[in-house]
Amino acid sequence: MNEPQKPLPTYAWEPTTDALAAKYGLPRESIVRFDVNTSAAAPDLSGVLAGSFDPPLCEYPPSDYAALVAAAAEAYGVATDELLPTAGADEALDLIARATLREGSVAVVPTPTYAMYRIVSEQRGARVVAVPRSGERWGFALDIRAIARAARTASLVWLCEPNNPTGSFEPPERISDLLEILTSDAADDGREPPTVTVDEAYAEFADRTVLPLRTGYPKLVTVRTLSKAHALAGLRVGFAIARPETLAPIVAYRAPASVGTISAAMAAASLSRPELAAANVARVTVQRTRLFLDLSELGWHPYPSSANFILVKFGSAAAAGLAAETLLGKGLVPRTFPSGHPLADCLRLTVRSAEENARLIEAAKEIPA
Ligand SMILES: Cc1ncc(COP(=O)(O)O)c(C=O)c1O
Repeated sequence: MNEPQKPLPTYAWEPTTDALAAKYGLPRESIVRFDVNTSAAAPDLSGVLAGSFDPPLCEYPPSDYAALVAAAAEAYGVATDELLPTAGADEALDLIARATLREGSVAVVPTPTYAMYRIVSEQRGARVVAVPRSGERWGFALDIRAIARAARTASLVWLCEPNNPTGSFEPPERISDLLEILTSDAADDGREPPTVTVDEAYAEFADRTVLPLRTGYPKLVTVRTLSKAHALAGLRVGFAIARPETLAPIVAYRAPASVGTISAAMAAASLSRPELAAANVARVTVQRTRLFLDLSELGWHPYPSSANFILVKFGSAAAAGLAAETLLGKGLVPRTFPSGHPLADCLRLTVRSAEENARLIEAAKEIPA
């Protein structure tokens, strides 16, 4: 008899805006999403939509996405054969898991971090070895030695820099140290070093990147997205970036034309005008400092952040839950963490516009830290 199938792990969002409006009896337009690390406004790329598309929308996009890849190569300072356009960073993460993991493989995940690494790894039948980050007093730094130890049997190591949800950031020099250790351990053991994926979804907010390290560590895959600094989450455009020989097996798993023509054109336009993302990053950085100070003044406990969100710690999971419920009642949606999660006593809050952040602070005044 067949064993009953274990349900596949899947990603869980907070409820949709429509569902929350109905639940709390609020007008839909009064609801502000502090949970998804997006931006308060998209850049004006209406010129792209006003023009005609080449090829037109009755055709598939060009299989090489030449214009998008050229714009990304220029923006990220890499060669065109090192770039794979994907439907958001999430598709890149899934393709990397498909290309590197098999039933019984080991994937190393420093925790707490973005839930998708565990999900896409377990969906491939891999065993996830979680390596706890150092505590908050040490800025949630990576435990490089423990990661290297776990990586001795691993096919894939997932890193997130800056890290979601802690907002902490490991300087590229430390990642470089880790890669050196992985290389020398693999040489000692007489095996290939593991693939290392560095998810740089928030890299623009820290203004540092590990991209140059791919020359010394050929199995490094960097993931980027248009969803965060570029303020274009709805487009669903991201990239896997790696040396051509590392990228080839990842490319093989992508469905043909997974990025639509309109998304590719708008993404190329945004990448070709770096001043647009830079303005968003500058705005977020100012608002992040302000929100951090305002929350601190209320007696809340925000952690320093190198991304476009702030993690806030409460006295207990119950206090975090109560704070979330109070905010939700006012149409302000925080990211919560389920019970048993190491950050169950925290909420994660996206840095939004000055007006939206002010609404959050007003609401926070009624909530004990
Ligand atoms: C670390 C990290 N990686 C990837 C993603 C997904 O990005 P995308 O919208 O490009 O799929 C997110 C989204 O929040 C994220 O936090």
